[in-house]
Amino acid sequence: MKKSILTAKSLSKSFAHNGEQVHILSGVDLDIYEGDFTVIMGASGSGKSTMLYALSGMDKATAGSVMYDDQNIVLMGEKELAKLRYSDFGFIFQQMHLVSNLSLYENVVVSGYLNKKNSPAEVRERADKLFKRIGIDHIKTHLPSQVSGGEQQRCAIARAVINQPKLLFADEPTGALNRKNTTEVLDLLTDLNKNGQSILMVTHDIRAAVRASRLLYLSDGNIIGELNLSPYGQTEEKSREAQVNAWLNSLEW
Ligand SMILES: Nc1ncnc2c1ncn2[C@@H]1O[C@H](COP(=O)(O)OP(=O)(O)O)[C@@H](O)[C@H]1O
Ligand SMILES: [Mg+2]
Repeated sequence: MKKSILTAKSLSKSFAHNGEQVHILSGVDLDIYEGDFTVIMGASGSGKSTMLYALSGMDKATAGSVMYDDQNIVLMGEKELAKLRYSDFGFIFQQMHLVSNLSLYENVVVSGYLNKKNSPAEVRERADKLFKRIGIDHIKTHLPSQVSGGEQQRCAIARAVINQPKLLFADEPTGALNRKNTTEVLDLLTDLNKNGQSILMVTHDIRAAVRASRLLYLSDGNIIGELNLSPYGQTEEKSREAQVNAWLNSLEW
């Protein structure tokens, strides 16, 4: 049986808008499992980012609980949350947020040094391996502005996994990339997942969605559909795309 990493119960989030409460998440019950490449889809504005932020402790839920390692993230203080996000979770976004005056390599190792989970030598050893595996070793001394968007995102992924997070959160990580760079980034995420990295990604891009082992669909504040797929690469891409498309059509995507 699959082991749960995160368990959300009755998770709700609302925002005040013009004096009225707008409910974005309305009592979501959800488990995220170890080893899965979970993808949350939904229309633009359906609350995908809001859900990712509430599940990861980047933002506070209005009500409900998110259990991680016997702790309720919703009740944690800012200090505790910061530590959790830093030591147990990894994050990537549409924008890479790399430090512009640090080299790609420095961007990654600094994150490892600050964490103090591993010694500096261990951080560098991990970084060296990651840079080779990710195919950006030859440009590691470049500044972010000197490499492509895809290379920047691959560096941001290396930075996100340098501290061996239990769960890697990704919010539209291919949203700003062209086709070729999108494929490179998705191949990297797939490869990380094959090697055991649990991933939770939100996207509205079908090319990204087909990489999932489990797909969830968010609409009207709740998960209204789920599709489980065999690990990516075991089935032909075309039939996988057809399966995802049929599922999305059934949900009036
Ligand atoms: N901080 C906020 N204050 C008010 N409304 C917000 C805030 N963040 C998001 N929203 C609203 O919540 C809804 C869902 O947003 P979001 O989670 O970003 O959707 P998605 O990622 O699916 O496109 C949108 O209507 C958005 O305007
Ligand atoms: Mg979003």
